[in-house]
Amino acid sequence: MPDGGRLIVALDTVEAERARAWADAVSPHAGLLKLGLEFFLANGAAGFRAITGAPVFLDLKLHDIPNTVAGGVRAVLPLRPRMLTVHAAGGSAMIRAAHQAARSAGADGPIILAVTVLTSLDEAALHDLGVAATPAEQVLRLGRLAIESGADGLVCSPLEVAMLRQALGPAVKLVVPGIRPDGHAAADQARTMTPARAVAEGADWIVCGRPITGAADPGAAAAAIAAAIQ
Ligand code: C5P
Repeated sequence: MPDGGRLIVALDTVEAERARAWADAVSPHAGLLKLGLEFFLANGAAGFRAITGAPVFLDLKLHDIPNTVAGGVRAVLPLRPRMLTVHAAGGSAMIRAAHQAARSAGADGPIILAVTVLTSLDEAALHDLGVAATPAEQVLRLGRLAIESGADGLVCSPLEVAMLRQALGPAVKLVVPGIRPDGHAAADQARTMTPARAVAEGADWIVCGRPITGAADPGAAAAAIAAAIQ
């Protein structure tokens, strides 16, 4: 069990006050809080610093030339995010540059997670991009490349977690969004899994947003999910 628990709560909003209220409510039950691109572009470092209660996963999905990505990672090190994301499609040198920049902060540096194939891309969309592989093949190819290039782990869909755990072994960190408690509407997440099932299939952490932040009592919703994966 990771320190603080396996639940990551996604605080997806541009409103700093709303994010702070959610953070206060769910922090007792969350291993991490996730801030994404929309929050960070709207509120910047000051908004990030106002989110307290649990370590923060900064989900910026960086993708640029190695020098620029390394600079981006170094730029957020003073905020002490616990996790950062990059796109594996940026290639080996870019992933390695992100890893080295993160390690420049020593043991306090964030772990680097790679995103393989966006779950919004199906086989036809990959074909349009010139990728002949199936999504599963491409996920595995990019996942291996990322880990060999210094990434600590991967963000992956519920459908990929068992395959990646089996292929890449126990040390690779797997972080899994697309989580829906039993009976909860899937919203725009087409491929979902319950929290307990995702952990049983090999997830180190699960990411859950709207089933918690959209609940009448976000603290209670987070507590119920945390209890289901203890
Ligand atoms: O609200 P919901 O539980 O769907 O939130 C899921 C979170 O995980 C969002 O912040 C979303 O950006 C992120 N995510 C995802 N699917 C991926 C990668 C990340 O839903 N493939």
